[in-house]
Amino acid sequence: MSSDGSAGDRRRVSHVPTGVDKLDASITGYPRGRTTLIMGGAGSGKTILTLHFIAAACARGERCVQLLTEEEKDDIYSQARSFGWEMEKYEKDGTLTVVEILPERVGGMRLPEKFQDFLQFIKVPKGANLVVDNMSVFGMAAEAIRYRERMDSLVFKLKQQGCTTLLVFDDDLEAAMRSALMHSTFSVVRLFKRDNPFTDRRERAMEVIKMRNTRIPSSHIFYEITDAGIFIEGEGKANFTTVKS
Ligand SMILES: Nc1ncnc2c1ncn2[C@@H]1O[C@H](COP(=O)(O)OP(=O)(O)OP(=O)(O)O)[C@@H](O)[C@H]1O
Ligand SMILES: [Mg+2]
Repeated sequence: MSSDGSAGDRRRVSHVPTGVDKLDASITGYPRGRTTLIMGGAGSGKTILTLHFIAAACARGERCVQLLTEEEKDDIYSQARSFGWEMEKYEKDGTLTVVEILPERVGGMRLPEKFQDFLQFIKVPKGANLVVDNMSVFGMAAEAIRYRERMDSLVFKLKQQGCTTLLVFDDDLEAAMRSALMHSTFSVVRLFKRDNPFTDRRERAMEVIKMRNTRIPSSHIFYEITDAGIFIEGEGKANFTTVKS
């Protein structure tokens, strides 16, 4: 059985909106109660993608938790504010809980050890929307096999908890870790930049590498980052392929 317990469970999963205009027409949304990996290089838009998800879920009044391991809350809030989202308001009314572990990291906390029980550490309520930005710090110096075990156990616990989770990872992980992650999680979305030789433009694009029990687009989805956040170009892709992995 796969780590998220999905083997044999071919019922259609429902999806939680991404919060990005036109994106749900392409990727349907994030599988509810499951874990999605958001991978991408530096500056590819991972954090902004997760902010769309959290801001939209908070606006619907759903419980959200953000675990920040790399950036301070102030910086995240000011990025969100630049797009018109007042995260402080949601934090004050109890819709959003933000946990920062940068201070603990700076203070020498041993992250790989913390990984195992970090669910208790952050006390995620049942059914909450959870973002961990960024998970890569938990993988440093871990052996691939131990890392896979930890990921499987984390993804399993999150499913039991009914959390719809986005785990952010950097693209430049070593191959064994990357492969462990891809197999442990229910769906994988990758953000990247590429040079278009015809226009000399640097384009931003995302691809759905997998999303179990869900139709996924067969082509890349192009986007820009604007003063309103992620802007999907075109109308969203019409080409779908049905993949059950
Ligand atoms: N208002 C804006 N207009 C255009 N681009 C913007 C705007 N706000 C932020 N950006 C761009 O968005 C990109 C950063 O997005 P984001 O922080 O989500 O990336 P990331 O993948 O999380 O990066 P990191 O690896 O550093 O965590 C930067 O390249 C930044 O210049
Ligand atoms: Mg980021």
